[in-house]
Amino acid sequence: MKKVKLIFLAAVLCCASGQIFPQSTPNYFPSGNLATVGVYYYPEHWDKKDWERDFKKIASMGFEFVHMGEFSWTFLEPEEGKYDFTWLDEAVNLAVQNNLKIILCTTSAAPPVWMPEKYPEILMVNEYGVVQRHGSRQHISWSSPLYREFLRKVNTKLAERYGKNKNVIGWQLDNEPSHYGRYDYSAPAKNNFIDWLKNKYKTIDKLNEVWGTAFWSIRYDSFDQIRIPNQVELVQQVNPHALLDFKRFSADEAASFLSEQYQTLRKYISPDQWVTTNFMDQHMNVDPYRNTDLDFASYTMYPVSGYRDGRGEQGFRIGQSWVIPFASDFHRGVKGFTGVMELQPGQVNWGTQNYQPYPGAVRLWLWSAYASGSSFICSYRFKQPLFGYEQYHNGMIEPDGVTISRGGLEYQKFIEEIKQLRKNADKQTQVPAKYSARKIAMLWNVDNVWETDYLRETDDWNGLSTFIKYHAALKSLAAPVDIITESADFTKYPFLIAPFYQLVDSILISRWKQYAEQGGNLILTCRAGQKDRNGHLFPTHLSESIHSLIGAKIDFFDVLSRYRTGKVQLDDNEYNWNIWGDILIPDSGTETLAVFNDQFYKDNSAVVTRKLGKGTVTYIGVDSNDGIFEKAILAKIYNINGVEVESLPQDLILEWRDGFWIAMNYSSEPVEINIPQNAKILMGQKILHPTEVVVWQEK
Ligand code: GAL
Repeated sequence: MKKVKLIFLAAVLCCASGQIFPQSTPNYFPSGNLATVGVYYYPEHWDKKDWERDFKKIASMGFEFVHMGEFSWTFLEPEEGKYDFTWLDEAVNLAVQNNLKIILCTTSAAPPVWMPEKYPEILMVNEYGVVQRHGSRQHISWSSPLYREFLRKVNTKLAERYGKNKNVIGWQLDNEPSHYGRYDYSAPAKNNFIDWLKNKYKTIDKLNEVWGTAFWSIRYDSFDQIRIPNQVELVQQVNPHALLDFKRFSADEAASFLSEQYQTLRKYISPDQWVTTNFMDQHMNVDPYRNTDLDFASYTMYPVSGYRDGRGEQGFRIGQSWVIPFASDFHRGVKGFTGVMELQPGQVNWGTQNYQPYPGAVRLWLWSAYASGSSFICSYRFKQPLFGYEQYHNGMIEPDGVTISRGGLEYQKFIEEIKQLRKNADKQTQVPAKYSARKIAMLWNVDNVWETDYLRETDDWNGLSTFIKYHAALKSLAAPVDIITESADFTKYPFLIAPFYQLVDSILISRWKQYAEQGGNLILTCRAGQKDRNGHLFPTHLSESIHSLIGAKIDFFDVLSRYRTGKVQLDDNEYNWNIWGDILIPDSGTETLAVFNDQFYKDNSAVVTRKLGKGTVTYIGVDSNDGIFEKAILAKIYNINGVEVESLPQDLILEWRDGFWIAMNYSSEPVEINIPQNAKILMGQKILHPTEVVVWQEK
């Protein structure tokens, strides 16, 4: 029992240092500032005569920094080797004159036309063998040594020029490095892939073994015969092991592309300037957790565009409640803090339906970004563009160049509110005990997503959605969540969940065991432990690798569909499941928490729990589409371990940060918030209408 308390205390301390004014790294974001807000400005899009007026306006709206330069390579190096920084110097000076700090960017997402014209070998090639051409962005091969050489030169010039400028607070590498989910099949990519394989396997025999090439006579005689696995040139399915390695390689390649840029900048810039990039959380072809050469990871965020409608009547205008909390936790996990590099300003232009956001939604997202841990929030973009693909994309300012847009007014309001809130910030504040008792780590390894998404077994399976479903369930219990990888120390957390951790090895399994034995509460979910790290099934009964850990045998599994759901019984309630069901046979001493309630395996165990040493291990065998069961079972696990959780109404988010409780209503209905009598309400009120926010301090 003593050890459990120790683990718990460690968790409280970790929250105390991690969540209140996180300052473990250089003092990039001054303590007590809560969050600083800025905006994108593209001087190269506007007549010079407007610049002065625009910078003044940015400052008068309350913004504290401006973001510039991201796609401007053609202006920085109009001819090979001829650089021109005069225009950027002028823009930087105007920002400084208006007391604005500056984020500058490397321009790697959009090179000037002379480069691919002269050196077409730098271009990316798609899966059909089509060379990706100049005329848009992100058409360059990350693997091209020549491109990297050009980049080194321009980045050196930028860093030499602005790296010691006290007003430049940080740098963004590239823009949304991802090739927007596409893969590169160019010659440099293929060469690097083969080198990567040689380095990993040393001999072709080893590769044949790991890739299981005896299957379908795929066997190779030498590394040079290997092509990038590419479904469009194959009659039947790609070899899953080759694909897994190609995904690993591509993510490594993206990381090395960024890392090289980081290293170039770091040679010249001041240690006070930070370097990040702005990831998107949808594209799993890059993996922020591979980017150790970043000071932190930031993200871009567009909740309303028709792609991911929220629930309820107005959900399509408000967005899903989980997107910002998930993006924050996911990117914060990389280096312990994060920021939003682009936040939707209002209506956009590239969605399936570009709805007007519901009045108040933009402000709600800003509050969500702050509440879920962002140290800064930046809006894309200041002025709505008059030309180019994004003409109907709102900015803070309408096309007339002076009128503040509806979204701009919401930004302005939030900025005033956050500045007001700074006055109430109490640096001595401690994380409330009831909140930190729920602290949970979610174990992430993108290999599990890549592997299970390809050999998915049901079209309803989606690894990232499954992970997010658990995250959303935890947020609806008002639990603070850290997303961690295997390099983290598990013992800092009273609870640890590893969703669908299919690829394992004996070291990981013994770490899980030790974690529970020492007092941690481990939660594993369906598909766990089925395969080794190469994606081979173990030559044992299904998931036998974890039988002794979970205290149950996995007899077999089933899948249903969203149109044919199965039932599962937990206490007095029945829930739906459909995506996955592991049918469990508990050992003696293992308790069943939920059973299947129909199908030919009715009454068999679906969720089991057991004590192990000073802690517990719970195995959740079923996976649902709607996430309702996941929320209920997680609440149950907290309860049986003596931890109280909130049961928030659907789409209400409640976070604690910097001493403030912040409740945000993403639903289409008014919600009454349970605020303690002795609390001091600093902003808003107990009844929250859709998109409203209330902030209070507990005394
Ligand atoms: C982002 C992108 C920006 C801009 C924006 C428009 O995904 O990074 O450059 O295109 O979308 O909403």
